[in-house]
Amino acid sequence: MDEQYLKINSSLRTVEWKNNKVVMIDQTKLPNKLVFVEYDDFQQVAHAIKTLIVRGAPAIGVSGTFGLSLAVLQSKATSRNELISDLEKAKQILFETRPTAINLGWGLEKIMTVAKTGDSVEQIRELVISTAKKMADEDIEINKAMGKNGSVLFDDNDTIMTHCNAGALATVAYGTALGVIRATRESGKNVKVIATETRPIQQGSRLTAFELKHDGFDVSLIPDTAVGYSMANGLVNKVVVGADRIVKTGHVFNKIGTYQVATMAKQHGIPFYVAAPLSTIDLKTKAEDVIIEMRKGSEVTGIGEKKTAPDDINIINPAFDMTPPELISGIITEKGVVTAPYEESISKLFQANN
Ligand code: MRU
Repeated sequence: MDEQYLKINSSLRTVEWKNNKVVMIDQTKLPNKLVFVEYDDFQQVAHAIKTLIVRGAPAIGVSGTFGLSLAVLQSKATSRNELISDLEKAKQILFETRPTAINLGWGLEKIMTVAKTGDSVEQIRELVISTAKKMADEDIEINKAMGKNGSVLFDDNDTIMTHCNAGALATVAYGTALGVIRATRESGKNVKVIATETRPIQQGSRLTAFELKHDGFDVSLIPDTAVGYSMANGLVNKVVVGADRIVKTGHVFNKIGTYQVATMAKQHGIPFYVAAPLSTIDLKTKAEDVIIEMRKGSEVTGIGEKKTAPDDINIINPAFDMTPPELISGIITEKGVVTAPYEESISKLFQANN
């Protein structure tokens, strides 16, 4: 185990802006090594998002904004319009890295809107970098508010199941679904957690089990195939997961396998909650138009370096699935918890915030 493993602490940020560089934890190395990578080129950030060095909807949203912050520094533009045009090109490259989580496009658009209010190269540089830093700070505040709102849904001695990693490592810090679990404990309730392994690339075992164990939670790891067993045998009281995109009808797009967990929860009468910030809600796209990222077959034919399938086999490897609203007991946001009918409650949530 890497020496630095011992030095991990709760003030650690998954991604941050330091001395005009982007610093992030290389999540592909966890849990064996805590390695930080440092980038000064937005193309490196794009590569990091694509290769899951940084992953999780809010974390890639913030990484995108820091990518644009590097792009403003890298640009040789001498006029406002030239700089905006360079930023548009960088935005497109960053945007094309991963299609499903809306937070990436949301963050990039927000930065572009602010950039366009600048009159000079200098002013745009300042605006882009300060806005991106502010958005990263706000991510933590939002997660804490969401955690507080969600904590009332959980009881003392609950065992909570979660899928994938919607924790500190999927955000700047604290987490969405794991933020709710953290806040529940902070409110004085004693809770246990069951983390699913989350094949094919094991965000559950590598990241969720790692961060919860580190924080002293009673966490049990199960293979994804043991979800039904755990629920049928009374090992789980509630479920909370994160989301990559929620559309206005309440359809939730999240890590592959979420739909199975939600279906099993319904079968066993177990409340199934989704925790996500408003920036994950997409009011424009219809559920059937959301692009599900398909990832490379080698993630399925092996575990790490070890090959676990025959050569030349056909592979279907969707990274996300859709959970329909009828399986969802509530969506926890920083502005409150919404329940069915979602089209109505989500719309009210946004009206209240305008
Ligand atoms: O492919 P990943 O690891 O980026 O997928 C992450 C998830 O599906 C998370 O559950 C989701 O982004 C919510 S993170 C707060």
